[in-house]
Amino acid sequence: MTVVLRSPQEFHAWRKQQKGSVGFVPTMGALHSGHEELLKQARKNNDVVVLSIFVNPTQFNDTNDLDKYPKTWEQDLAMAEANNVDAIFCPRYDDMYPDNYRYKVSENSYSNLLDGAHRPGHFDGVLSVVMKLFNIVAPTHAYFGEKDFQQMTLIQGMVESFFMDLQIVPVATVREEDGLAKSSRNVRLTSAERLKAPAIYKAISESKTAEEAAEKLNAQGFIVDYVTDVGTRRFVAARLGDVRLIDNVQI
Ligand code: PAJ
Repeated sequence: MTVVLRSPQEFHAWRKQQKGSVGFVPTMGALHSGHEELLKQARKNNDVVVLSIFVNPTQFNDTNDLDKYPKTWEQDLAMAEANNVDAIFCPRYDDMYPDNYRYKVSENSYSNLLDGAHRPGHFDGVLSVVMKLFNIVAPTHAYFGEKDFQQMTLIQGMVESFFMDLQIVPVATVREEDGLAKSSRNVRLTSAERLKAPAIYKAISESKTAEEAAEKLNAQGFIVDYVTDVGTRRFVAARLGDVRLIDNVQI
């Protein structure tokens, strides 16, 4: 049985009764098999599994993207139940932001690069909500996908900087058969765009340089925000119509 808890107070009362390790999977819902892989790893390695579903407005720099974010509560609940999730925490905005976002967590370096350079304030919103969620859920382990590698790296850094007592567990990117990284935003692609989208993964995996990958994507009609190599990883963000897709690979 999966319990559904709406407020931090309700969650706290439930959390006090739990024993052992708590694996936590924070999400914005519209769950797909990428999220499911996080749930499976959390279930395999913990006594208790908590999933959160909260479409966090402070991390959306684009109101159109926020308005169009898919919501699939019935399927999300079914996936949680099928994976023996113990509790779903799904707070409302006022529960999460009693101060209306007067206080925030920000990082001043890496968060300004890559996706941060194209989405002002995005990572402040992510770090702030994740710290709030960690404080409410009090997990021993939290699972994050490599699909959002920059996000995962910044969260790991926040945990170290603030001496937060939990372990961040990375999970490899889950892909469609044609290579496209699973994403809640994929459902917004038209069928023609969906056919084109795997070119992103192909370009960043097969090109010798970041420039070459960007050229290939430009030539196929993508609006490329960036293709950049950082250390041993290559990062990309590219738009098809009004859908913005990101991906990254080890190089
Ligand atoms: P969301 O996009 O719903 O993703 C939730 C988690 O699922 C993230 O850790 C993300 O990296 C992971 N994930 C998404 N697609 C994946 C894929 N194809 N393979 C593996 N993991 C995948 O990321 C967020 O929500 C939010 O920013 C959040 C951290 C919840 C804060 O609001």
